[in-house]
Amino acid sequence: MSIDATPSCILVTGGTGFIGSHTVVVLLEQGHEVVIVDDLSNSSEKVLDRIDQIVGEEAAERLTFVRADVADREALDAIFDEFDIDAVIHFAGYKAVGESVQKPIEYYSNNIGNTLVLVDAMRDHGCKSIIFSSSATVYGDPDELPLTESSPKKPATNPYGWTKWMIEEILGSLVVADPEWNVVLLRYFNPIGAHPSGLMGEDPKGIPNNLLPYVAQVAVGRRDAVHVFGNDYDTPDGTGVRDYIHVMDLAEGHAAALSWMMGRNGCEVFNLGTGNGTSVLQIIEAFSTACGHDLPYVIEPRRAGDVTANWADCTKAREQLGWKAKFNIADMCRDSWNWQSHNPNGYEA
Ligand code: WQD
Repeated sequence: MSIDATPSCILVTGGTGFIGSHTVVVLLEQGHEVVIVDDLSNSSEKVLDRIDQIVGEEAAERLTFVRADVADREALDAIFDEFDIDAVIHFAGYKAVGESVQKPIEYYSNNIGNTLVLVDAMRDHGCKSIIFSSSATVYGDPDELPLTESSPKKPATNPYGWTKWMIEEILGSLVVADPEWNVVLLRYFNPIGAHPSGLMGEDPKGIPNNLLPYVAQVAVGRRDAVHVFGNDYDTPDGTGVRDYIHVMDLAEGHAAALSWMMGRNGCEVFNLGTGNGTSVLQIIEAFSTACGHDLPYVIEPRRAGDVTANWADCTKAREQLGWKAKFNIADMCRDSWNWQSHNPNGYEA
C-alpha cells in the first residue's frame, strides 16, 4: 500500500458501480477513509466483498457502506452527521443512453434531482468539495480533434447526455454563487477494462449497450456475434473511433484530482482519456488476441446519435494533476477478458 495523499474521509456516491468500485479500491489503498452511498439499483452488494478481498483487512476497515438513494436527504444528513466528510465523489446516476430516450422524466429527475439533494446537504454540512463524473458526451459531434477542455460544449443527443451537460452547469453555478465551493468536473472518454485481479469489472444488467461488455459477452459465448454499428464512417476502416481508457487509470485520475483539489476553490474541468483513438474493428481484433479466438461480427447500420470519432487531449490533466493513463488497448482487453472469463455472469453466481 502506498499513501501518497493526506488521508481524508471521502463520500463516494454510486461506489458499487463500475467506475465507483475501482475508484474506491484506489482511495482505500491510498489510506483514505471511504463512505459509499449506493442504493444498489444497478449494481451488486457482492462488489463490497470483492473490494475487501483486493484491499485486505486493514484497509477494508476504513470502508463503510450505506444502502440508500442519493436523493434520500435524511440518509445523507445521517452520513454527514456521523462522518467528517472532506470531499464527495459523485458517480451515482442512470447511464444508459438508449433508455434515457425512452425514460426522460426518470433520467432528468434521478440524475439532476439527486445531485441537487446532494449539494444542498453538502452546503448545510459545510462540505463544499465535489468531483463529478462527467462525460466526453458534452462535446457532442466535435469540429476538431483532439478535444481539449476548452473545446465547445455542443447540444447533447439524448437525455442522459443532457443530464451530464446540465449538472456541469449547476455545479459551475455553485462556485459563482459561493466561491468557497471547490468543483472538479472529470470528463471521461470510454472507460473499459477491469481490475487486474479479475475480481471486479463491468457487469451491465441485460443486453449491454456499450461495445466492450458486448464484445466480452461474445467472447465468453453468452452472445452470438458483435454488431458493428456502421462501417461507412470517415475513419481509416469506416467504423467509429473512440478514446478507450482503462478503468484503473480512470480511478487513479480521481485520486489525483482529489489530492490536487484539497485546499483549493473554484471549478476546473479535466479530460480523462489516453489521447489515442481506436476503431470498433481494432477493438474486436485486440479482444480476439486477448481471449485467444476470433470473434464473429456482423456489420449493421449506424446507431442513431453516434459521432464518427472522438479522442482527448490530456495535456491539462498531465500538467496540473500529474496524471497520465498507463494502460494500452491490449492491457484493457486482457483485464476485461480476465474478469469476464472468471465471472461469466458478472457478480451473479
Ligand atoms: C463505442 C463505439 C459504437 C456497441 C457512450 C456514452 C458515454 C459513456 C460511454 C456511459 C461506437 C460502437 C457499440 C455495439 C458497436 N457513457 N458500438 N456495437 O457511444 O462512445 O459512449 O458510452 O455510461 O457518455 O455516450 O460508447 O461503447 O456504446 O460505443 O459497434 O454493440 O462502438 O457505434 O462507435 P459511446 P459505446
